[in-house]
Amino acid sequence: MGCLYAAHLRSSECNITLLMRKGTPQASLPLIIDRNGTRSEQQLPVVTPENQETISHLLVTTKAYDVHDAVASIVHLLCENSLIVIMVNGMGLAEQLSKDWPHLNLFFGTTTEGAYCISPQHIRHTGRGETRIGRQGQHEPPLWFDPWSRAMDSCLWDSNIEAAQWSKLAINCIINPLTAVHNCTNGELGQRRELMAHVATLCDEVSQITRAAGFAQIATALPQRVAGVIAGTARNRSSMLQDVEGGRRTEIDYITGFLLRVADQHGIDAPHNRALLKRIKSYKY
Ligand code: PAF
Repeated sequence: MGCLYAAHLRSSECNITLLMRKGTPQASLPLIIDRNGTRSEQQLPVVTPENQETISHLLVTTKAYDVHDAVASIVHLLCENSLIVIMVNGMGLAEQLSKDWPHLNLFFGTTTEGAYCISPQHIRHTGRGETRIGRQGQHEPPLWFDPWSRAMDSCLWDSNIEAAQWSKLAINCIINPLTAVHNCTNGELGQRRELMAHVATLCDEVSQITRAAGFAQIATALPQRVAGVIAGTARNRSSMLQDVEGGRRTEIDYITGFLLRVADQHGIDAPHNRALLKRIKSYKY
């Protein structure tokens, strides 16, 4: 996702640098985006935390569990006016980051753009979606947001970004762990009777927690939204299933784990979500 945004923002005349892990040797890298049979290639400068100068705007698109370490590696390069846009799966990062660095100027994003990595810095953009970026309660978009709204087809400022994040979280809590545990495509959740029953039970629990968290409209619409995403992404293997298949760590702590922390605050039991969390966390990576 980071490469997709880098390419689009570069085309929108933004000065983009790819910030790579410590030790990456290159000074620049080609960034290739394939879309509908056409290919665009751009050469983008590369820096690493040890040779980067002050960072003014930082977009973080790592796995959720890598965000804290990624920020720790560059926090010395931030200045008073620096800002960070966190665009990752799951929730709970605002609390985690603010605990260690209360001064960070944080914004959050969520997207339904479809893309996957063919090889490092070679991306296939599979489907246009919608991106929402914002800070809770900030109604006017800041000036830096202008090129963002020009760069992507549908990139909106959202002053209620927590609702947008929660809406995605609620869907991920249902589709991701179920597909990972049952080793099935998203579509099978809407076709196999025993899986449909699981979806319904989880929907009830997630809706109850969603309502308690103050997102009543999202709670009411959840069963229909989940059915829509299952049908619309029927052939997909969810990101969590791909992580389990690849023997990688999953983002469950930031998806179901976050949901259950909110459930605990409201005294809600949610046994089915708890069982899924335990099962996914039992996988070795
Ligand atoms: O994480 C994913 O794979 C996606 O967010 C979703 C919506 C579950 C579709 O595969």
